[in-house]
Amino acid sequence: MHDTLLLFGATGDLAQRYLFPSLLRLQGDGLLPADFRVRGLSLSAHDSEAFRGILRERFAHLSHHTPAPEQVEEFLARVDYRSVDLRSPESVAESVADLVGRRCVSYLSIPPGLYISTCQGLAQAGAFAAPNRLMLEKPIGHDLASAREINASIGGLIDEDRIFRIDHYLGKAAVQNLLALRFGNTLLEAVWNRTYIDSVNILVSETEGVDGRNAYYARSGALRDMVQSHILQLLCLVAMEPPASLAADRIRDEKVKVLRALRPFGAAEAQRHSVRGRYIAGIIDGQPVQAYAAPEGSEVETFVAATAHIDNWRWAGVPFHLVTGKRMAERSTVVTVTLKPVTHWLFERPDGAHAAPNRLTFRLQPQEDIELGLMSSLAGPEWGTLELHPLELELSSQTGHNRRIAYERLFLDALHGSHALFVRNDEVEAAWAWTDSVVAGWERGDVPLEYYPAGTWGPREAAPYLPAQFDAVGRPPRRS
Ligand code: BG6
Repeated sequence: MHDTLLLFGATGDLAQRYLFPSLLRLQGDGLLPADFRVRGLSLSAHDSEAFRGILRERFAHLSHHTPAPEQVEEFLARVDYRSVDLRSPESVAESVADLVGRRCVSYLSIPPGLYISTCQGLAQAGAFAAPNRLMLEKPIGHDLASAREINASIGGLIDEDRIFRIDHYLGKAAVQNLLALRFGNTLLEAVWNRTYIDSVNILVSETEGVDGRNAYYARSGALRDMVQSHILQLLCLVAMEPPASLAADRIRDEKVKVLRALRPFGAAEAQRHSVRGRYIAGIIDGQPVQAYAAPEGSEVETFVAATAHIDNWRWAGVPFHLVTGKRMAERSTVVTVTLKPVTHWLFERPDGAHAAPNRLTFRLQPQEDIELGLMSSLAGPEWGTLELHPLELELSSQTGHNRRIAYERLFLDALHGSHALFVRNDEVEAAWAWTDSVVAGWERGDVPLEYYPAGTWGPREAAPYLPAQFDAVGRPPRRS
């Protein structure tokens, strides 16, 4: 197991909120090597003691976990800090030179515009010599051209099989359950195709806004920030063919085929099959929140709904409705697979038009669970065989195991060298190719930004993409 982490972007939001707390938990559970060390690296001019002070303060206010003071001190004893200018390969090389003799994993949680210079510095210092590894946060670039440039430049410095590109959704336990459920059961695989599946909905709604990330978000927007990565990864796991084995590259081969089969958007698809939105002021959890303050002239969206099609035999004609937005009514990540109605309806109540189709729901957030919606008459003796009622079967079992947050799982896999939950270079590029087609479709089709009040389910125009959240006439439900 590798024993040294060089964490670039150590004072940033992600590192402070997720990366360091994850490492602390892993250490507390005895899952890190005895001689594990972390070097935090950022531009800010702290010394190691001051940086440890920042982490100590952060660990005192974790929302889900209250670590014992001895555990915190034991962890902090493994941490040091260097200030570094990431634009300068020399500065980077100097900042890690004393550690490159150890088995290092460099972790870049920094803007992608700094990836190449940082990697040049790491290579110069010897931090990419085998068996050292590199973990890269999303986004890899801003479009296909920049992703290719990053992949090609970094690929010239370190082998692909030692690069771990993160999409933290792949570390979520419910996402792994999706694979287990699909490929561990004849029952599901038998109906997993266009003959039986009517549509797939992938919704990632957040109540958080863009605050604090304006510089990044103004160049990104919801499509690049969420759809290009997390949502397309979820789509791949739903749509991929069964891999020949669970070897990382066999899984990634199948995912990339799905991405390449996504039908590119043109202007007409963009106009007909997508909605772009941006939140204005509204109310979330009873509190007023402000409109997204985009920079002057920015066209960036905070909400996107789009219907994707996968042009292959399994999925021909099945719409994949993809929706994500900031400042929406609820925090919720759900993948819903809706099956076609039965071909001949026998029952009196409800009538055929009101029978609920079978539906498999994978909920990732706010809690993780899997439900299968069936029509049933089994639930009570007072129901006759002519009358059916919807029944939700809960398919996830409580194991009693301590669930690991996504980053804990991903750290462990990268330290052990397991690639299955990381994204390969060709996957990233195929995802950008489709994303770029949507951006170009929006431009050529002049697709307007629609505005929605914070705390709602997005613009009214998006109602068809969110059938469960809007009523028949497209009105979002009132928030309680
Ligand atoms: C990140 C995006 O990758 O994922 C953020 O950049 C988003 O904008 C976040 O808020 C969502 O992650 P999660 O795990 O909270 O759903």
